[in-house]
Amino acid sequence: MEKYIINGGNRLCGSVEIQTAKNSVLPILAATVLTDDRVRIINAPDITDVKNMVKILSCLGCRAEYEGNDIVVDSSGADCCEIPMELAHELRSSVFLLGSVISRFHKAKIAYPGGCDIGLRPVDLHLTGLKRLGVEITEENGYIVCECEKLRGNEIMLDCPSVGATENIMLAAVKAEGVTVIKNAAREPEIEDLQRLLNCMGAKVKGAGSSSVTIEGVNTLYGCDYLPISDRIEAGTFLIAAAMCGGELQLSRANAENISSLLHKLRENGCKIHVNGDKIYLENHRRLTSVKSIETQPYPGFPTDLQAQYTALCCICRGQSIVTENLFETRFKYVPELRKMGADITVINRNAFVRGVERFKGAAVVAHDLRGGAALVSAALAAEGRSEVLDISHIDRGYGSLEYKLRELGGDIARVSV
Ligand code: UD1
Repeated sequence: MEKYIINGGNRLCGSVEIQTAKNSVLPILAATVLTDDRVRIINAPDITDVKNMVKILSCLGCRAEYEGNDIVVDSSGADCCEIPMELAHELRSSVFLLGSVISRFHKAKIAYPGGCDIGLRPVDLHLTGLKRLGVEITEENGYIVCECEKLRGNEIMLDCPSVGATENIMLAAVKAEGVTVIKNAAREPEIEDLQRLLNCMGAKVKGAGSSSVTIEGVNTLYGCDYLPISDRIEAGTFLIAAAMCGGELQLSRANAENISSLLHKLRENGCKIHVNGDKIYLENHRRLTSVKSIETQPYPGFPTDLQAQYTALCCICRGQSIVTENLFETRFKYVPELRKMGADITVINRNAFVRGVERFKGAAVVAHDLRGGAALVSAALAAEGRSEVLDISHIDRGYGSLEYKLRELGGDIARVSV
């Protein structure tokens, strides 16, 4: 087990290059199963969620290897349609493999997925969508078993715009017979990125980024080299950390449009922000002011994946804020930890009521999930004194080289084995 030791109080100054998006690369890795040709994912992020997905692909019989920063997948030898229980529990995104594995083998068996413990996270919409394409689904000792003779295009109306269900259905439908239309589809940029990748492979997908995605089935998909979009959540995490610590930060390989909801809020808080192409500059030299209320929503609303980090920022703003989490039930697990650092937060149902305090104080805290963990690291960097953030394996799931990047900016952070 490893932990971070952080001596807070340093300003964050300098530049950071943003990694490719975790939430793009995971479904893209799932898509590699759809072809016998090689797919190269350029500049894949060095994070454990991606490494676990690569392990799962290897279990399916694919050859998935790192070449420098790229991952090259050759699925021509894929011969297994079962995703083992241990790996599915490590990684919720293993569920994306359902769509592509069914497409390839007309059969798939997968243990109920794991991932961050941030609420119920059901997969009913994924399964209902697949049923509409002709898949028969049964459950067997904790496994979901899917079988079909043939996948047939259909119209699918999602009860809510689920990112994962939209992507899974796209993966199942690209080689189905006929046309599939997903209505009330999620509109996240990572879905557009998956469409771009699939079309590079020879698929006929359009509409991603809007709430209606149309997929015209094709017989064959081909290999390609693909550079995924940049990680808007990593970008947002660094911006929030710099806003909290004070300093001057430049992000490169970032996409301002994809996090415009955050940039608006940070400007309202009092940060100076400029955008130039793929660069975002943030400057802050004083205590920020609260924005009263903010709520998470599907894209283009404020992302749930930045809720914890932004709530940490609210804790040291002048004034009060209410943060409402609309997507996941238990996404406030980091709150008791922030309280150990002096935060004044009360959670009632989906709302966190925050009264700003002058500063955080260093403390020993535990990361319970990926984004909550990132919020604790930012708080510790901004705090007076020494903090320990325990159980950082959660943070490693989504942030590559986090401590190196923060040290480059002047943060005093070290990884230590416990
Ligand atoms: C994806 C992201 C995750 C992000 C989330 C919301 C990846 C790998 N993960 O997760 O980082 O926090 O989008 O932006 O891309 N729901 C159902 N039934 C389902 C599926 C979802 O009720 O079958 C509900 C969920 O409980 C939740 C909402 O739909 O309340 C949104 O979830 P969803 O968009 O599916 O999130 P994920 O794809 O799991």
